[in-house]
Amino acid sequence: MPIYFFINIRRYITEKKIKQISNNELLKNGFIKFNSDNGTKLAEYLKDVVENPENAENSNLGKFKIFNRSSLGVKSIAVDSSSEFLHKYVFTEEILKKLENFYGKSFYLRNNPTLEFDYDNEKNDSQYFHLDWGLKQTSVMINLNDVLKNSTHMEYIKGSNRQYKFRPPSRFNKREIQKIEYKHKNLETVKTTGDIGQISIFDAGCGYHRQVAGGRRVMLHLNFTENLVFTYWKKNWQPSDTAYWFSDNSENLKLKDKLFDLVKRRFNSSFFTPHIYKKLMTRKVH
Ligand SMILES: [Fe+2]
Repeated sequence: MPIYFFINIRRYITEKKIKQISNNELLKNGFIKFNSDNGTKLAEYLKDVVENPENAENSNLGKFKIFNRSSLGVKSIAVDSSSEFLHKYVFTEEILKKLENFYGKSFYLRNNPTLEFDYDNEKNDSQYFHLDWGLKQTSVMINLNDVLKNSTHMEYIKGSNRQYKFRPPSRFNKREIQKIEYKHKNLETVKTTGDIGQISIFDAGCGYHRQVAGGRRVMLHLNFTENLVFTYWKKNWQPSDTAYWFSDNSENLKLKDKLFDLVKRRFNSSFFTPHIYKKLMTRKVH
């Protein structure tokens, strides 16, 4: 895929510059985790939705839409990006500065943030270690309960992000599996476990990660990207898929920021806009 080639050249040039920034751990090793007052306040603020997710759509804490349920209860709630609390506790300097140092260029919220629920005794398979496209995708996860070793959590092979992919990687490819096994053995594996309010940010595009199944976990999940990969983008996209978009955004001036161009469907395509991904739109990848 030639577009990978160009995107990688741009990545190489950009990273040469931003490597100089001190404490740029997210770029260096692909994973950071830190305690945050804002994270703690967020968890406190969302307590009612965390404990009663079935009532979320009637809540006045923010704009919520339930879009996935299992027999145990609500699995995923989309949070409209215009929700005031996101701007107060999440789209803050503390998080955005780290992403800025990672991208070294414009980056965008990829889709509406989601609240994710996992339950005790839930039958869910752990994932294989994988990459999200092998391009510059980042995930932010904020623990909304105490996430222990035996809670559901993400694992990340630290430093595995220092690689370039020239086509979309497959987590089922034999050579890819061998490579992952080697890195898993030789590099440190870190986890998103930690206290309520703790924030993890990781390079999901280029670094190997997987979800490990376990007991109850509630978190706020956000994805960022620098292009249209993984956005299910098309010129006439509709906000009907609540997993991705449901905001009318008419009233919220805060969404004027460039960060929200994808969510607001205001993105201008450029040479690096990979239209090619339209073909892959039906593929669902974590
Ligand atoms: Fe993933």
